[in-house]
Amino acid sequence: MTRTTERNGHRGVRALLEGVAPNRPRPGAVMRAVERLEHTEAYDDLVMSVRRVVRAVPTGPVRDVLHGRWLGHPVHPMSAQVPIGAWTSAAVLDVLGGGRRAARTLVGVGLLSAGPTALAGWADWGELKKPQLRVGLVHSVLNATAVALYTGSLAARLRGRESAGKALGFAGLTAVAAGGALGGHLAYRQGAGVNHADQVESRVGSDWHTVGRVAEIPVDEPVRCRLEDADTDVVVVRDADDRWYALAEQCCHLGGPLSEGDLVDGCLRCPWHGSTFRLTDGWNATGPATGTQPAFETRVKSGLLEVRLRPPE
Ligand code: FES
Repeated sequence: MTRTTERNGHRGVRALLEGVAPNRPRPGAVMRAVERLEHTEAYDDLVMSVRRVVRAVPTGPVRDVLHGRWLGHPVHPMSAQVPIGAWTSAAVLDVLGGGRRAARTLVGVGLLSAGPTALAGWADWGELKKPQLRVGLVHSVLNATAVALYTGSLAARLRGRESAGKALGFAGLTAVAAGGALGGHLAYRQGAGVNHADQVESRVGSDWHTVGRVAEIPVDEPVRCRLEDADTDVVVVRDADDRWYALAEQCCHLGGPLSEGDLVDGCLRCPWHGSTFRLTDGWNATGPATGTQPAFETRVKSGLLEVRLRPPE
């Protein structure tokens, strides 16, 4: 080993001991600001007050439609493409200096589509964790600012004040871009809206796994069990007729512990936000979860319960 390599090696070990990977680039100023925002408690009272208002809408079909249970995917990120696309297209026309009527129409289309998009976003936001709520509230304030600016832009254009309409439109596009960046952070960095049970399939594969002795598993009570060979937890339910069910333990919505949930009409209800998953196949009977919970086939051999991931239908 050369002297330089030795020195680098020591630096690397020291960095690892301090919990910092060697040569890891520091996040940029913007990212540091967003990360600070995640942990800023100063406006938590406001966050929780808004959340109470949002959650006043009872859970049920309306909220499920807004979450996207019918789609199997959150609605908000998809519907956001309409206002963003319309306003971006209007900006292109404004820059090129033509198509005044088309630009005006696009600004209007963006405003019309912003309402349902915001409703879907608020429905999802109301179920998030605190760091996500903080970022999500600023995301919505930026988007509301964009709506206000585009409303002014449309009003100016309708009065024939094209320059003012364009200026307000560009300001609105800046606000919606900043809001979109925070939305991306929420989804990709903070995991809002992603499937939190996605890793189960790659861990368990298509093999049978031993859960444990059936004699130790109580009746009509969700029990958390570890598949040691797959580094994965499942929740097992044994009914009074000795039928066995198993689902992935971590709720696909935001990772809630299903073994701490309640059994309701052949389903298991998540203790965190109340999604219910059918025991037989993991189908999400109610949201806010938009996806199906991984479900397992079961068999008993020599007094041991074994499970295997159900293949997709
Ligand atoms: S974690 Fe939200 S419903 Fe389970």
